[in-house]
Amino acid sequence: MEKLMISGGRPLHGAVSISGAKNSAIALIPAAILAESEVVLDNLPLLSDVAVYAEILEELGAKVSWKESQMKIDPSDIKSIPMPNGPVKKLRASYYMMGAMLGRFKEAVIGLPGGCNFEPRPIDQHIKGFEALGATVTNEHGAIHLHAKELKGAKIYLDVSSVGATINIMLAAAKAKGSTIIENAAKEPEIIDVATLLNSMGAVIKGAGTETIRIEGVSELRGCRHSIIPDRIQAGTYMIAAAATRGDVLIDNIIPKHLEALTAKLIEMGVQIEELDESIRVIGRPNYGHVDVKALIYPGFATDLQSPMTSLLTQAEGVSVLSDFVYSNRFKHVPELVRMGAKIRVEGRSAIIERSRLNAAKVKATDLRAGAALVIAGLTVEEGVTEVTGVEFIDRGYDHLVTNLRLLGADVWREKE
Ligand code: EPU
Repeated sequence: MEKLMISGGRPLHGAVSISGAKNSAIALIPAAILAESEVVLDNLPLLSDVAVYAEILEELGAKVSWKESQMKIDPSDIKSIPMPNGPVKKLRASYYMMGAMLGRFKEAVIGLPGGCNFEPRPIDQHIKGFEALGATVTNEHGAIHLHAKELKGAKIYLDVSSVGATINIMLAAAKAKGSTIIENAAKEPEIIDVATLLNSMGAVIKGAGTETIRIEGVSELRGCRHSIIPDRIQAGTYMIAAAATRGDVLIDNIIPKHLEALTAKLIEMGVQIEELDESIRVIGRPNYGHVDVKALIYPGFATDLQSPMTSLLTQAEGVSVLSDFVYSNRFKHVPELVRMGAKIRVEGRSAIIERSRLNAAKVKATDLRAGAALVIAGLTVEEGVTEVTGVEFIDRGYDHLVTNLRLLGADVWREKE
C-alpha cells in the first residue's frame, strides 16, 4: 500500500494533457466482446480499473494486448464462462459484462460488482432492461445469473436516467432480434462513445446523447478501431485544482463542451477561463465569491466533480451550498476535509461550506472522487505535509496523477504506507 504526500501552497502552472475517459473505457472494453474479430481502442487511460477489465476478458479467453494508450482485443476465441468471483468483484463496472455476455452468449453469471461504494448503488434498472429483452435474471449467492432463449427488442422506460443501465441495455440489445427503444435514457458523453463504437462494429443505434435511444438488433458485429473520448472528470479535477491553488493551467486534449456546467460555475465564482477548441485555460484569482452548486445528470454539474468542488468552495468567501441530486449521500470526503480544518456540515443531500483555512493532516480517501477532493485540499495547504491514504482508489481514475501534478509544479510524491 502506498500513500500520497503533498507539500502544498504552490500555485499550479503549465499544461496538462488529459487521457481517455475511464467511464468510457470500462464500457468499451466489455463491448468489444460482442465483435467476431479484433477491436482496437486508442486513447486508453492507464488506470487500475482498465487493467482489471483486461484481466476479466483474458479469463474468458480473449487475446488482449495493451501498449501505452492502445489496447487490442481479439474476442474470436472467447467462451461463456461463469464469473461468480475473481476480478469481477474488484470493479463496479463489471456489471457491463452482464449486457455484453448476454448479447454474445445469451447467458452470463457475474458476481455482484464491487468498486467505489460511497452509498448503496442499485442495479434494478439494468435488470429491468434485461428482463424486458427476454432474459431471466436471478441473484444466487451474490452472483447475477442471466439466461435468454432469445433476446427480443422491447420498449424500456428507465425510472432513473442511469448511465450504467442505458449502456448495459444497448450492449444486450445490439444483437437482439428487432427494435429496442430506451426512453428516459442517460445522455452522458460516455453513452455516445459506446454507441459510436458499437455502430463502427456494425450495430444500428440512433439517438445516443438524447433521452430516446433506438437500437435495431443485428446478427453479427465485427472488429473496428475506435479512439476514446477525453476524460471530462479528470479534466474538471485539474480545472478545480488550478483554481484552488490560484494557478494558471492549460487543460489540453479535451472537449470543452463536456465541461460547460463546471466552466459556468467557475466563472460565476470569479475564476478566469479561456476556452479554446480542444483546451481550457484556467487562471486563478486571489478571491472567489460563494456559489450554490447542484450535481445533476448530464448536462448538469457532474456528481463526480462534486467532491473536488467541495475543496475549492472552502476557498470562496461566505457560505456555499453544494447539493447532490444524483447520489443522496456522496459526502465521505467531508469528515476528512473537516480534519484538515474545513468548516463544512452536511444537511440531507447538501454540504454547507464556509470559507476555511486548511491545515496539513493525515486523511483517508474512501472512494475515487473523495481522494481527488483531498489531493486538491492538500495542494492548497500553505504549511506542512498532507498524507492521503487509500491511494488505490485514486489510481482507479486518475492517469499519471503524480507525474502530471509534478509537471505543474506541485510538490507531491508517493511513499510506502
Ligand atoms: N440507480 C438506480 N437503479 C439503477 C441504476 C442507478 O436507482 O439500476 C440510481 C443510482 O443509485 C444513482 C442514479 O441512479 O442515484 C445514477 O446512477 P447511474 O446508474 O447513472 O450510475 P452508474 O452507472 O452506476 C456511472 C459512473 C459513476 C458516475 C455515475 C453518474 C461508471 C462506471 N460509473 O455510475 O462514476 O458517478 O455514472 O454519472 O460509469 C466515478 O467515476 O467516480 C463514478 C462513480
